[in-house]
This record gives sequence, C-alpha cells and structure tokens, in this order.
Amino acid sequence: MSLLSHSFIFACVIFTCFFFSSTEGGRKNGIKKPKHVHFVNHISLPPAPAPQEAGLSYNNAPSPSPALSPSRVFNVLSFGAIGDGVTDDTQAFKLAWDTACQSEQAVLLAPVGYSFLILPTIFTGPCQSGFVLQIDGTIMPPDGPESWPRNMSKRQWLVFYRIKELKMQGGGVIDGRGEKWWNLPCKPHKGINGTTPPGPCDSPVAIRFFMSSNLTVHGLTVRNSPQFHFRFDNCQNVHVERLNIKSPASSPNTDGIHIENTNNVQIYNSLVSNGDDCISIGAGSYNVDIQNMTCGPSHGISIGSLGIHNSRACVSNITVTDSTIRHSDNGVRIKTWQGGYGSVSKIKFHNIRMETVRNPIIIDQYYCLTKNCSNQTSAVYISGVSYTNIKGTYDVRSPPLHLACSDSVPCTNLVLSDIELLPAQGQLVADPYCWNAYGAMQTLTVPPVLCLLGGIPEFIGQNIVDQC
Ligand SMILES: *[C@@H]1O[C@H](CO)[C@@H](O)[C@H](O)[C@H]1NC(C)=O
Ligand SMILES: *[C@@H]1O[C@H](CO)[C@@H](O)[C@H](O)[C@H]1NC(C)=O
Ligand SMILES: *[C@@H]1O[C@H](CO)[C@@H](O)[C@H](O)[C@H]1NC(C)=O
Ligand SMILES: *[C@@H]1O[C@H](CO)[C@@H](O)[C@H](O)[C@H]1NC(C)=O
Ligand SMILES: *[C@@H]1O[C@H](CO)[C@@H](O)[C@H](O)[C@H]1NC(C)=O
Ligand SMILES: *[C@@H]1O[C@H](CO)[C@@H](O)[C@H](O)[C@H]1NC(C)=O
Ligand SMILES: *[C@@H]1O[C@H](CO)[C@@H](O)[C@H](O)[C@H]1NC(C)=O
Repeated sequence: MSLLSHSFIFACVIFTCFFFSSTEGGRKNGIKKPKHVHFVNHISLPPAPAPQEAGLSYNNAPSPSPALSPSRVFNVLSFGAIGDGVTDDTQAFKLAWDTACQSEQAVLLAPVGYSFLILPTIFTGPCQSGFVLQIDGTIMPPDGPESWPRNMSKRQWLVFYRIKELKMQGGGVIDGRGEKWWNLPCKPHKGINGTTPPGPCDSPVAIRFFMSSNLTVHGLTVRNSPQFHFRFDNCQNVHVERLNIKSPASSPNTDGIHIENTNNVQIYNSLVSNGDDCISIGAGSYNVDIQNMTCGPSHGISIGSLGIHNSRACVSNITVTDSTIRHSDNGVRIKTWQGGYGSVSKIKFHNIRMETVRNPIIIDQYYCLTKNCSNQTSAVYISGVSYTNIKGTYDVRSPPLHLACSDSVPCTNLVLSDIELLPAQGQLVADPYCWNAYGAMQTLTVPPVLCLLGGIPEFIGQNIVDQC
C-alpha cells in the first residue's frame, strides 16, 4: 500500500533518531531482580540524576542523534523503583517525573528487563522542553477492581495533564491487566439478551492525555486495557506512530485510540486488535489524519457516537487513508444519537481494504443502546463524506453499505467512488440500504447503490442545520 510521502519521511526520521529495545526482552526478564537497587527514603531529597549525562546511553542504545544530546537520563531505578512486578513503584515514578520534568532535554527511563507496578497517577506538566518518557520495560496497574485503591478514581489509570511537549516512546509494554474489569457483572456482554445488569461499572482508561499539546506517542505496545487504551481529550498537536494495541475481541469498551475535543492529530502506521472501536473520534475533533492503520478484530474506525443527550457535536476535516480493516463489526462508521445538533463535515475515507467486515460502510443516525429510543426532530447534520477506493469483502449478515440518515436532517454530499465490496462467503443477501441519504456515485460501484438520492434536499438552508 502506498503512503503519502510526508509520513514516510517522518517515519524515517523517527527511526533513525530513536532506538527500540526489544519487547521480548522486557517480557522474558519481567520479574528479574535489579542488581543494584538504590533505595530512596521518600521524604529525603531526590537523589542526583543518574550519571549518564552524555546521552541516551542506557542498555544497548546506539549513539544518540546529535539533535537530541545532551540529554539527561533519569532512570526510575535511581529513584527507588524496584521493578519486580509486585512492589508499588508509584512514588519512585512520581519523584523521577518531578525531577526530570524540571530538567531540559530530560529522558525519564523505565528500563528494559523490569516490570513496574504503578497505582493510578496524574503526571502533571508543563515540563521543560525536549522531555522524553522512555518506556522500555513493562508498566502495569493493580490487578483488577478489588486491588484498586479505594479512594482513587476507577475511571483512569495513567493521566498526563497540562503537558506542553512530550515524547512517550520505547519498545516496552503497557499492560492494563484488564481481564477482571471486563468480567464485571455490569458489562453489556454479561447481561441476558443485551441487557445490562446493575453494579459498579467504571473501568479505567489506561492512558489519558488531558489538556495537553505537542505530544508524540511512538513505538509502544499497549495491551489489555480495562477500558479505552488511549484517550486524548482537550489536546492539540498529537502524533501517534507505530503503536501496537492489543486486547481480546471480547473485551468490552476497549477502544484503541479515542480522541475528543482534540485537533491536529496524526495517527500513523499502527496495529490495533481489540473489542471495540479501533479509533473513535468524538465531538470537537478536527484536522485528524489517519494513515496506514491495520485494525481487526475490532469495531472499525468510528466518528461518534455524537449528539448524546441532545448535545452539540462538531467534527470536521477527518481523513482516513491507506488502511486495512479486518474481521470487524464495522469498517468506517459515523454514528449519532437521535436528537443533538452540530455537524460532521469534510470527511474522507480513501484507499481502505476491508476483509470480512460486517458493515464496511455505515452511517447510523439512530444509534441507541437500549433499542428503544424515540425519534426526535433534531440531529447532527452529516455532510460532505467521501468514500473512495474501498475494496474487499463483507460478512453477508449485514448489507455492505448502510446509510441510515436522520429522518429530520438528511445527509448530503455523500460521494461514492471505486467501491468494490464482495461477499466474503456465500451470496449477497441484503442490498445496500439508504435512508434520507443524498449524494453521488462517481463511478459504478459494486454493489450498485441505487438507493442514494440525487441532488440536494429542499430543506437545506431553511432550518435547524447547524454548520458549526
Ligand atoms: C488514599 O488513601 C491513602 C492512604 O489511606 C492516602 O495516602 C492517599 O493520599 C489517598 N489518596 C487520595 C487521592 O485521597
Ligand atoms: C432472552 O431471549 C430469549 C430468546 O429471544 C427468550 O426466550 C428469553 O426469555 C430471553 N430472556 C430474558 C431474561 O429476557
Ligand atoms: C507545538 O507545536 C506547534 C506546531 O508544531 C508549534 O508551533 C509550537 O511552538 C509548539 N509548542 C511548544 C510548546 O513546543
Ligand atoms: C504501515 O504500518 C506498518 C506497521 O503497522 C509498517 O510495518 C509499514 O512499514 C507501514 N507502511 C508504510 C508505507 O509506512
Ligand atoms: C485538514 O487537516 C489537515 C491535517 O490533517 C490540515 O493539513 C489541513 O490544513 C486541514 N484543512 C483545513 C481546511 O483546515
Ligand atoms: C420504550 O420507550 C417508551 C418511551 O420512551 C416507553 O413508554 C416504553 O415503555 C419503552 N418500551 C420498552 C419495551 O422498554
Ligand atoms: C423512527 O423513524 C423510523 C424512520 O421513519 C421508523 O422506522 C421508526 O419506526 C421510528 N421509531 C419510533 C420509535 O418512532
């Protein structure tokens, strides 16, 4: 698959700058005892930074790029972390963070060969420029709701707050130990016939960036999150690259990367397999570029859900290109609740390969968890969505295209071109479905989408439509 040259160049720059130590090494040696543990009394002053001042001279690293030096490496082991997977290393990480954060070009290192247990923590910025969080070992939270500290929020684990610039990278693993959370009785899949039994249900997002900007997240493996793996919320200038996100297909609400109220986002060259959306894009997101993703099994790449509780949602200028979605419930999806205001516009889905996907192309403006949502007279307005060069196979249990626009607010300017979707197995059972969907087929499509309405509906310009 071809990729736009700028991201390729970016990838090359990144790869020559940084070294990835092996994830395997981290796993194999996960429980190994450190040879020289430097115990730190938490009341005492922080120890002097580790002596490696000449650059990124930790295990096996090649010479650092001149652009990065001189860096100062703050190894969490020097701050009292044990890394045996059992001892609580939270204080050591906090201390190391506070110290490194105040130093220019600092590298906060969680070294390979250790497994660090960290309680829910908010890491606050801003830090000095050039701050790198280098995770080469394994980081994990307490194991499940029973072990979670009682007085701490069960909705988030690691939070990065008010960061102005941060590179989070490394060959390490962030293991959310989600299993006991997924099995809480309250989770949807535990109920009979889609009901949700009562009981506490909060589960932590593994990594949350909140009110932060100029973030790069690069190279990590993040697995088994209790809830979303990443959540970017009120952030700007986010670059995500070469992540490997992995949870079982049956794990509930484990979105790979969720963004909301966040703009100027690039998500490139990453793998996601999980139990919910591969990437989900919430209200207030714009200028988002997604390239070369491989998703599946998953619920696909979603814009939404938007407009819950009659809220206003604006999402604009989202591009998804050169990606593969396989064995997923959805391919590319836009979902909104009944009611709500605002708009979804300038959306481009281009060059996407589908492999056995249930709803490869879907707009659902009747999104509703209880299956008993009343029809309402307002809706988020969907306009200007192009689907070009989308090919592959679909699971015949659902129609290959499903464009269910609001009764009260039609979708407009939908563009279909070079669509070729064939049954993965068996016969075409359902034709493409459209409701109140206006747009054009620029080429013949397979299957033909005869239900698409031509032109522009009359109401446009008259009422209720909120263009954001
Ligand atoms: C939670 O409780 C522990 C010990 O009881 C205390 O040290 C800690 O500060 C508390 N944390 C919060 C966020 O209240
Ligand atoms: C679940 O659905 C099945 C089949 O539709 C039905 O026979 C059964 O009574 C339902 N159970 C409950 C608790 O609603
Ligand atoms: C953040 O990135 C933007 C765009 O790349 C740049 O203009 C700005 O100076 C950066 N801000 C900081 C604090 O580095
Ligand atoms: C696409 O991403 C994969 C990793 O998922 C990577 O191996 C491949 O090189 C990337 N392709 C391009 C053209 O960058
Ligand atoms: C749309 O987003 C891209 C980045 O993904 C940006 O380069 C472009 O300028 C944006 N377009 C508009 C009209 O804001
Ligand atoms: C569906 O919702 C309506 C009102 O919104 C309510 O009156 C009705 O009882 C609900 N039906 C079921 C089966 O829950
Ligand atoms: C909502 O509208 C759709 C389309 O007109 C219709 O099929 C459905 O029955 C309506 N649902 C309710 C609860 O009124």
